[in-house]
Amino acid sequence: MATAVEAAIAAGRIQRSFFRQHLAIDKKGPIDLVTAADIAVEQDFRQRIALRFPTHTVLGEEGVAAAEPPVSAFRWIVDPIDGTTNFAHGVALFCVSIALEVDGEIRLGVIYDPIADELFTAERGEGARLNGAPIHVSHAQTLIDALLVTGFPYDTEHRARQVRIFGALLERTRGVRRLGSAALDLSYVAAGRFDAFWEEHLHAWDIAAGSLLVAEAGGRVTDYRDQALEIFRGEILASNGRVHEAVRRVVVDPDSPG
Ligand code: IPD
Ligand code: CA
Ligand code: CA
Repeated sequence: MATAVEAAIAAGRIQRSFFRQHLAIDKKGPIDLVTAADIAVEQDFRQRIALRFPTHTVLGEEGVAAAEPPVSAFRWIVDPIDGTTNFAHGVALFCVSIALEVDGEIRLGVIYDPIADELFTAERGEGARLNGAPIHVSHAQTLIDALLVTGFPYDTEHRARQVRIFGALLERTRGVRRLGSAALDLSYVAAGRFDAFWEEHLHAWDIAAGSLLVAEAGGRVTDYRDQALEIFRGEILASNGRVHEAVRRVVVDPDSPG
């Protein structure tokens, strides 16, 4: 945890140093961006792990060229900037997301928002914290009292269904937000700011740390079929538990009159 927190604070420093500067922006696809800051943060993270834990594996979004150590039971899963589109547009909603998986189980999650200076941490079985203080999911019981959050995939083909779900939930809830960072969305569910988050076509680095945060904050995290979350399938519903089933029903069948 000390290494993860240190790396997250260092990532935040790098992000701030690049933020709202003239940035080199590359496109990984028609919409999906990568900046020099994404690369610099991942490079820094890989160097830290290589020094501290040379046998550990790192899975990072930007896959920065690094000598891969032997496959280990310990795997760090890192998104150097979650919210890259916001970052590239000078919108102050982004973070770094770091998780440690041991023998296939996420044991630790750290998410840091360097603009708000909010550090979200969770260790399996030890609860979730924000800047050191314990956090808990919200108490909302019904959809009409719930504030939800979601995101839209980069692949425009998959956006139409998501728009239908978005519309259906907009009609039934207090509101639906779209921050542009799945890791922050999950952190905010853990902190009780949002009551539920759903999204599909995500990557493991978007949700590995945040899903542990929600679970450790007393929430519920599943896929759309209410099965245990598999971070590599990229489909997630995370909530305070109380509104989980009501949200899930709309997500799987947004066209039902409900
Ligand atoms: C993205 C963000 C966004 C989500 C996208 C992700 P990136 O990650 O988490 O909220 O809607 O699906 O890919 O590209 O900013 O690391
Ligand atoms: Ca991401
Ligand atoms: Ca990213």
